[in-house]
Amino acid sequence: MSGWDKWYTNAMKLIFLGPPGAGKGTLAAKAVDSLKVPHISTGNIFRAAITAQSVLGRRVKAIIDSGKLVDDETTIALVRDRLARDDAQRGYILDGFPRTIAQAEALAGFSPVDRVVNFDLSDAAVLERLGGRRTCRNCGANFHVLFGRPKQEGICDSCGGELYIRNDDREEAVAKRLEVYREQTAPLIGYYREKGLLVDVDAGPASDTVLGNFRKSLGIAG
Ligand code: AP5
Ligand code: MG
Repeated sequence: MSGWDKWYTNAMKLIFLGPPGAGKGTLAAKAVDSLKVPHISTGNIFRAAITAQSVLGRRVKAIIDSGKLVDDETTIALVRDRLARDDAQRGYILDGFPRTIAQAEALAGFSPVDRVVNFDLSDAAVLERLGGRRTCRNCGANFHVLFGRPKQEGICDSCGGELYIRNDDREEAVAKRLEVYREQTAPLIGYYREKGLLVDVDAGPASDTVLGNFRKSLGIAG
């Protein structure tokens, strides 16, 4: 298969579902290399707005820091606009959206997806991953003090930006995020399973193994 054939064969509209810290952002950043589709993370978009101190950023900062969800209306409008752009017409990886049934129903109306990948991870592993995460303030890349160390302490390998600890990785906010996940987001697993769109992938192993299993389960050429 030529490079171009592979590019077109692999293009898909995907949702990455899973608890906080499951590795959605880390895996999406790796998967887009072969899929050649944009990685669209609502969390990254909100954090960039907070850094820029835009109107949106100022409005959502306290909500995000506390681990609660931004309201559906704001989030749906943001994703609808982002998916209308040219680069999202062939496919995309949606990371962190939808997070409620209302968001899933809205998405089905403006951009039906091909598959939903459910990255499953135990609460104990979630705590270990979020407890050691370091995020780039500039590009949003994720590192870990044990499982994915940057080449130079405190500096992003991809863009040279400063690594920091997300406010919502504090213990109280993580507990809230897990509670919100169970109550509002986990019901999407059944919702998409019933529609025949769900693919389960164990997020427990090392990220390259998880990525390989993700590719195999979707038949994606490497
Ligand atoms: P968001 O940024 O989406 O946060 P999240 O869903 O809680 O997920 P995370 O980003 O914490 O985890 P991840 O699965 O991406 O894991 P990562 O790859 O970093 O949302 C943040 C907030 O924004 C929400 O709480 C809400 O307020 C708001 N928001 C966003 N979307 C919204 C929506 N649709 N509606 C309403 N509000 C919304 O990995 C975690 C760590 O583990 C890293 O350190 C990484 O290096 C490491 N790691 C990754 N994979 C592995 C592996 N296989 N083995 C070992 N370590 C690993
Ligand atoms: Mg993420």
